[in-house]
Amino acid sequence: MGLKEFYQGKSVVITGASSGIGADLAEVLAGFGAKLCLTARREEKLKEVRERCEALGAEVLVMPADVTDAHRMAEIRDAVLERFGQADIIIANAGVGGLNPAEHFDLEIHRKTVEINVMGLANTLVPFIHDMVERRSGILVGVSSLAGFRGLPNAASYSSTKSQQMVFMESLRVDLKKHNVAALSIHPGFVKTPMTAHDDFDMPFMVPVRKSSHLIAKAIMKRKARYLYPWPMKILTWFNRHLPCWLYDWFLPRVSGQKDPRPKML
Ligand SMILES: NC(=O)c1ccc[n+]([C@@H]2O[C@H](COP(=O)([O-])OP(=O)(O)OC[C@H]3O[C@@H](n4cnc5c(N)ncnc54)[C@H](OP(=O)(O)O)[C@@H]3O)[C@@H](O)[C@H]2O)c1
Repeated sequence: MGLKEFYQGKSVVITGASSGIGADLAEVLAGFGAKLCLTARREEKLKEVRERCEALGAEVLVMPADVTDAHRMAEIRDAVLERFGQADIIIANAGVGGLNPAEHFDLEIHRKTVEINVMGLANTLVPFIHDMVERRSGILVGVSSLAGFRGLPNAASYSSTKSQQMVFMESLRVDLKKHNVAALSIHPGFVKTPMTAHDDFDMPFMVPVRKSSHLIAKAIMKRKARYLYPWPMKILTWFNRHLPCWLYDWFLPRVSGQKDPRPKML
């Protein structure tokens, strides 16, 4: 089946749709004929994305929200069911990155990162589970990261939340399989977006955002339980995962190329 055939007429919710991966994925899915509910905090940015999607012929619902607000995320579920009748694919993509080196660890940055990445993902997906289980159909998607496979240097907050997302999606996957509901986790390497628009450290094998959108669209269609890209970073991640701790501790700080980083959320 082709991507157009798969996405045509499907209703898709995307969080973090005001920028980067989410905004571009919205456009790509609009081009494939999906009906979209776009959400993020910045309404003006969402409206710009909506215009681009509508120009491609898509029906678009814009629902500004903060993913940490569970009540608001449940309202989004209600609005989507009312407007589109059902929700076929929910993409929990909203997230924050950044650095939090242990020597200068900022608990406030950590708390916000956990609230947005961990609770935000659950607040996005959980409201749709009941309806999907009843219909015996639907796909839940968490956008995690390759950073979730091991604790990266200076990234205790980011890496640990991305790891939690991966494990959370895995438990959902096991539980929901018998109901014919898929729960997938997507693990991008470096993608060219505002989140990576800084030069704090080396970012090898950077993927253009449009390429990333096509890879994600395809992975969802194929119901890939866990999708890692691009392939050179997938290999590096596999290699890293199997390093003993003593070698990992020596190797990772040398390849990450970071120079006296300070805490910041991106
Ligand atoms: N870029 C990469 O290299 C890369 C690699 C691996 C994984 N990822 C993951 O991909 C996802 C998207 O990242 P990106 O690169 O596209 O970053 P981005 O351009 O900074 O976009 C982040 C999106 O998340 C939204 N967001 C942040 N906090 C939110 C909140 N509290 N409530 C609602 N929305 C919120 C932002 O919208 P508002 O500010 O308008 O709310 C924005 O639309 C993230 O989960 C990130 O961890 C990215």
